[in-house]
Amino acid sequence: MRSLLFVPGDSEKKLAKGLSSGADVLIVDLEDSVAASAKVAARATTAAFLAEARRADKHPLLYVRVNAFDTDLTDGDLDAVLGARPDGIMLPKSGSGADVTRLDAKLTAREPAAGIADGATKIVAIATETAAAVFHLGSYGAASARLVGLTWGAEDLSADIGAEANRFADGSFRDPYRLARTLSVLGAAAAGVQAIDTVFTAFRDEAGLRRECEEARIEGFTGKMAIHPAQVAVINEVFTPSAAEVDKARAIVAAFAAAGDAGVIGLDGEMLDRPHLRRAERLLARARLAGIA
Ligand code: COA
Ligand code: MG
Repeated sequence: MRSLLFVPGDSEKKLAKGLSSGADVLIVDLEDSVAASAKVAARATTAAFLAEARRADKHPLLYVRVNAFDTDLTDGDLDAVLGARPDGIMLPKSGSGADVTRLDAKLTAREPAAGIADGATKIVAIATETAAAVFHLGSYGAASARLVGLTWGAEDLSADIGAEANRFADGSFRDPYRLARTLSVLGAAAAGVQAIDTVFTAFRDEAGLRRECEEARIEGFTGKMAIHPAQVAVINEVFTPSAAEVDKARAIVAAFAAAGDAGVIGLDGEMLDRPHLRRAERLLARARLAGIA
């Protein structure tokens, strides 16, 4: 999952447009981008869209962002959309791994009636939307076998803190948000799931988006959420390993294989040990997912 595009779940027009955006995942949103007065109608629009979109031979992964547990909407959202068999659910305002376990139970209770195989509905959690949640980023490891990704958010977090801004004038994140971001990438790695970077809201600023994607990739994120179709191509490009990286990773794997049980080898004048092999294997796995290896 390189690019995950948010699409408001009450907008038939944007939903249709999202399908041809090239995003790996559409996150059909029932939460913050849908007005309170439109929440109930958005469920039906979303379910109809999912059912229709699934009929195509090729379509992005289809996730639904439900409303958070601190509303009384989560169960109704799940009841309305599970029948259309989304690939996954995004949980906003997750407080800790316990919230993911709670969502897991709700999905387990609903999958049989929806004709979904046990455990097939995946979960991505937004894990930094409250200050308290940031202190629980290490709690996702045993939360649920459904959990495939952790992501973070700066907008709700700054509202929870009561801060005036989350970025500096040059666009870089201020300290509390960098901390949340850092703990997210560590929490995802500790849980063995994908680290997904947050949205870049200035959707006309392509250079800024590219910079933020590259920085995230270097630090261990393997995908980023988008809010506008124009952001998808940049995100896909930056999070797809280059041909040179794939070649190098293949050479490392081949050199270790040729060396038998060696812990350390030399390749092109560089010392390589097990962490290099592990990194090369992970890069090749991402390349395979992107269809280029
Ligand atoms: N998904 C699908 N289509 C989208 C889209 C999205 N996220 N954002 C914009 N589009 C469509 C527009 O409808 C428009 O379609 P048209 O050419 O057929 O008229 C086209 O892309 C160009 O849009 P543009 O005029 O540049 O932007 P806008 O002013 O219409 O929309 C936003 C700006 C921010 C309102 C819109 O991008 C959006 O709704 N984003 C998602 C917000 C969201 O889900 N937030 C929650 C997570 S933080
Ligand atoms: Mg939000």
